[in-house]
Amino acid sequence: MSKPITGFSKLSKSKKIDWMVDTYFSNPAEAQTVLKQYWNSNDKLQQLHDEFIENTISNYYLPLGVAPNFLINGTLYTIPMAIEESSVVAAASKAAKFWLERGGFKTKVISTTKIGQVHFNYQGDFGKLKQFFQEVKPKLITSTEAITKNMTKRGGGILDIELRDKTTDIDNYYQLHASFETLDAMGANFINSCLEQFAKTFKAEALTFNLFTEEEQHIDIIMSILSNYVPDCLVRAEVSCPVEDLSESKTLSGEAFAKKFIQAVTIAEVEPYRAVTHNKGIMNGIDAVVLATGNDFRAVEAGVHAYASKNGQYSSLTHAKVENGMFSFWMEIPLALGTVGGLTGLHPLVKLALELLHKPSAKDLMQIVAVAGLAQNFAALRSLTTTGIQEGHMKMHLMNILNQFEASTEEKSILTNYFKNNTISHTAVTEALNKLRGTSEK
Ligand code: MEV
Repeated sequence: MSKPITGFSKLSKSKKIDWMVDTYFSNPAEAQTVLKQYWNSNDKLQQLHDEFIENTISNYYLPLGVAPNFLINGTLYTIPMAIEESSVVAAASKAAKFWLERGGFKTKVISTTKIGQVHFNYQGDFGKLKQFFQEVKPKLITSTEAITKNMTKRGGGILDIELRDKTTDIDNYYQLHASFETLDAMGANFINSCLEQFAKTFKAEALTFNLFTEEEQHIDIIMSILSNYVPDCLVRAEVSCPVEDLSESKTLSGEAFAKKFIQAVTIAEVEPYRAVTHNKGIMNGIDAVVLATGNDFRAVEAGVHAYASKNGQYSSLTHAKVENGMFSFWMEIPLALGTVGGLTGLHPLVKLALELLHKPSAKDLMQIVAVAGLAQNFAALRSLTTTGIQEGHMKMHLMNILNQFEASTEEKSILTNYFKNNTISHTAVTEALNKLRGTSEK
């Protein structure tokens, strides 16, 4: 059993590693080597990564891939994707190419409002609280001027603050529910700083509001925090084409393809078990671009899944129909993204990803990310309703299995060739590799 350690964060990086490998590893020297082989030889770059978080011991690599040929509102994009799942970039590229030949993707930002709340307790008359709020509201706004000055100059800032009575849910519980426009910033720091200032001003001003009794004067602030639920920070992405143009082979007509595809979407609209997997596939595309562009994929995930339940049941984020001979497939999703601030100016690969995307505004990035999600869902449903997902998946997976067995370049070449005409499975690849090596190891 290891013992707890105090003052860990104050140890040097090498002392942290020494303690960790000596405490937990049967072969500490080997663990040291594994960690250190991921250190960057450029000390400045390594220090940058060390300082992103606390207690950094190494770097955790993910592949950064690109999917070219995305035509979005007439502009061609090559989309950067940071992801470990083997089939995602290939699927994105395939969907991009398919739609490139059919008019590309059309996108539109519907709204860009973000939300933050001050949660507080107040014991007293709601009428008086309302009166106090009306009186103090301008002061709440002016008290944040030092924080909002630059954002306001650029056309953003605080849009509104509402007082919300939540006492039907919890006794004495109220909110200051504020809306913000944060332009090209994701805005988390901006919103949280404004909210904390609102809370301070609100509490202090209540102490001198003459209609309040002594008990009413003591407003108890619970917390001040932005919401990652952003149903009014919404983007729409769509593809459409004549039904007959959907056909790519003589064996499947455009009409038959559209029928099955729409059925697959309808199932995800009504069946939560399927909807979760369907939407997970959408997030394969979305998270990969969100991560490559230095945005917060946890915030995006939380907001998107909440939005998928907005009607009371978890449902598909995408929709499809055929009308007047035209097939269309679309999605509206909430995305709070930034192209300034946070990692965007710090991480060299994030800067590179943003330049690759023509240095997008936050609104541009919302559209690109939504397209990556829609394309991914199109590719998934297309394989699911035609060949099945495993065919493409296992091809991509073959390389992972071969790498797991440290296959040489020659072995990889022979087996990639062999599996062009044979079914790929973990067992089949292991057996073929063993046969090639003349061994029977598992
Ligand atoms: C796998 O990561 C994603 C899929 O399961 C999505 C789907 O089923 O739609 C293929």
